Amino acid sequence: MDKSKMFSRLVAVVALLAATEGFASGGGAQLDAADIDPGNISSLQRGARNFINYCSGCHSAQYVRFNTIGKYLELSEEQLVDNLMFNADKTFETIKASMPAADAARWYGTAPPDLSLMARAKGADYVYNFLRGFYLDPASPTGVDNLVLAGTSMPNVLWELQGYQSAVFTEHTVDGVTSREFEGFEHVTAGTLDAEDFDEFVRDTVNFLAYIAEPIRSDRRKLGVWVLMYLIVFGIIALMLKKQIWKDVK
Ligand code: HEC
Repeated sequence: MDKSKMFSRLVAVVALLAATEGFASGGGAQLDAADIDPGNISSLQRGARNFINYCSGCHSAQYVRFNTIGKYLELSEEQLVDNLMFNADKTFETIKASMPAADAARWYGTAPPDLSLMARAKGADYVYNFLRGFYLDPASPTGVDNLVLAGTSMPNVLWELQGYQSAVFTEHTVDGVTSREFEGFEHVTAGTLDAEDFDEFVRDTVNFLAYIAEPIRSDRRKLGVWVLMYLIVFGIIALMLKKQIWKDVK
């Protein structure tokens, strides 16, 4: 293959990669960064409380045990029972949805998915934007649609906190094809939280979802530091040993 051919193939591959990258990130609306802090234990504690109060009515987290959360989030058994375990008796139980999945599927059309691995599957930014992305849509059976998951059957469960917002779109027609572009949200009614506090509420919730999706991440990082330190110390010893052994051999 001559050089120019190789070059044009390379360009084609790069263009393809760039295109799939755009596709993977949803193509449409730009996602705001969730900016979560996995090391912030109080954020995780608030996120756990938010999840139990606002999500576990419909969503389970079947890979997550209360005692595991308690240990990592520095909660005593009493705090666990009083604040999180409204729907469980024993700390080794996992987080179950209050609503039976079959009923939920009948009522909402789609069963609410288990959220144990959701933040890893879809990304923290996605979940952050999904929860902030509900807007009024009179044509929808739930009264709302969602910017990142159009036509979703999940109702806007955080409306009391956020208030209701509408979405502003501009329409463009190119060659007879009309597409609409998202311009921004407009508040219609105020919620109990202002915009900044609401974002914080969602950020904490997403932080918790990201933690349960990969609970060993922080352990792994700590272990990684020890492994590196061991390698460095061992490397120094090996070097000294080599000098010692070879010192008489010239
Ligand atoms: C009233 C029931 C209900 C509650 C409460 C609820 N959800 Fe949902 N949720 C649903 C349903 C139904 C779906 C499936 C939606 C679909 O596929 O269109 C869903 C889907 C989702 C999805 C997946 C979206 C996707 O891209 O597939 C996420 C993430 C999610 N919910 C997060 C949450 C979080 C976080 C909370 C708590 C703040 C919450 N939900 C509270 C009913 C609920």
